[in-house]
Amino acid sequence: MKKNIQIAIDGPAGAGKSTIAKIVAEALGFTYIDTGAMYRAVTYKAMQQDIYLDDETKLANMLAVSTIDLKPSAQGQLVFLDGENVSDAIRSNEVTASVSQVAAHAKVREQLVAQQQKLAANGGVVMDGRDIATHVLTDAELKVFMSATVEERARRRFLDNQKRGIVSSIDKLQEEIALRDKMDSEREASPLIQAEDAIFLDTTTLSIDEAAQAILRLAQEKML
Ligand code: CDP
Ligand code: CDP
Repeated sequence: MKKNIQIAIDGPAGAGKSTIAKIVAEALGFTYIDTGAMYRAVTYKAMQQDIYLDDETKLANMLAVSTIDLKPSAQGQLVFLDGENVSDAIRSNEVTASVSQVAAHAKVREQLVAQQQKLAANGGVVMDGRDIATHVLTDAELKVFMSATVEERARRRFLDNQKRGIVSSIDKLQEEIALRDKMDSEREASPLIQAEDAIFLDTTTLSIDEAAQAILRLAQEKML
């Protein structure tokens, strides 16, 4: 029996990756690693420091002297940047709108990928992102590419906002998501793409529990 496997979950925004990855990690007693939070933290710091987001060298130099820590807590994963809790700040609309621009730079990705690989080195992890199966954990025992229609993903984000008391428009959210998907899929450095050995999971009509159970079944097969 192989217990400490690596599970890689990739896919576009709003597919349900982080929600389902957390449930799967908890059920298996694994660590959940949200790599999107790391790209968001870099983007947040660059914006705070007024760094031009197309200046790859400056961004890479800034990241080289930064510390990003992911810490599990009762409220979910917390994100610390240079010791400061930025878990909420990195979810702002401003960061969301700019993160794909920062994530397109190879020199930024190289540093974050090295950190992610270290975090997953002992297995027992569920890691979600865009390039986990194709670049970060290429030997992961289970690779899932999760998606849903862009209309459903925008509807989910709209409901998320409503719960947080944020007024938004579904049409605008759909446009923003489609733009981010396009930037993430068309960039040169490790674009969002389904790995050849990944299993495709369409969550459009699945409940959270159904999607989590589907992945847990696959994980249990791999752990036999
Ligand atoms: O939660 P949401 O789907 O909105 O996004 P996220 O997972 O927090 O990721 C934010 C952005 O970071 C993505 O749109 C990508 O541009 C970038 N990202 C990436 O390039 N590679 C990863 N492994 C994870 C995120
Ligand atoms: O991490 P990612 O951007 O892929 O998506 P998420 O933040 O986990 O999910 C976006 C929203 O969709 C959350 O509010 C989830 O609760 C919801 N969701 C859903 O309604 N049905 C699913 N099968 C999966 C997620």
